[in-house]
Amino acid sequence: MEATLTLYRTGYSGLQIGLHWLIVAMVAVQLLIGENMAEMIEAAEEGEVASPEDVLWGNVHLWLGIAILVIMLVRLFLRLAQGAPQHAGDASPLTKLAASALHGTLYVVLLAAPISGLVAYYGLADTGELHEASRPILIVLVLLHALAAIYNQFVRKDGTLSRMLRPQ
Ligand code: HEM
Ligand code: HEM
Repeated sequence: MEATLTLYRTGYSGLQIGLHWLIVAMVAVQLLIGENMAEMIEAAEEGEVASPEDVLWGNVHLWLGIAILVIMLVRLFLRLAQGAPQHAGDASPLTKLAASALHGTLYVVLLAAPISGLVAYYGLADTGELHEASRPILIVLVLLHALAAIYNQFVRKDGTLSRMLRPQ
């Protein structure tokens, strides 16, 4: 039954779509408030008192990051359990491979970012620099991913973006 579902799936489920856009919003906030977390940590290291603003947004960064980690694990589970649809339209095998590789890399980066953040925060290992690299990496990957989706939807007109908006 599972195999049949995976084979003939033509779109993403409502839950997969909801979690995709929830993560987009949460990641945008994380990129905006990462600086506050950095300031909060720096103040603690220098024995100074962090500003109330940095403490507030630093803590939001911590908890939102943990929520992203949990949701990404749920998404990974859903993808393995429900499967993902075939690529839309008649893209070449190379394009399909590039799209799948980009999706896979997004999963890896969004698991590595919160894990490296937690490890640095609790002083388990020096993963601070690796964690900071998540900002430029995410910006480049998400730009490529979003541009590809927009190009497929509006130039190739193959409905790629529609299927991340309407469950099937
Ligand atoms: C997907 C989730 C996350 C993203 C996208 C993210 C992103 C960022 C960004 C962009 C910065 C600013 C780096 C800079 O100043 O150049 C930052 C800093 C920081 N984040 Fe996160 N973060 C995430 C989750 C977490 C979590 C769960 C923690 C755990 C406490 C965390 C801990 C930190 C720490 C400690 C810093 C300061 C690093 C330093 O200055 O050495 N982050 N984060
Ligand atoms: C933090 C930002 C983003 C992340 C981490 C992300 C991640 C992903 C992942 C992992 C998939 C594969 C399907 C799945 O497993 O759920 C996917 C699919 C998709 N994403 Fe995103 N995405 C982001 C932002 C965006 C944006 C801004 C757009 C639109 C402009 C977009 C449009 C799409 C579309 C249309 C699909 C379906 C592609 C297909 O069916 O081949 N995503 N996204």
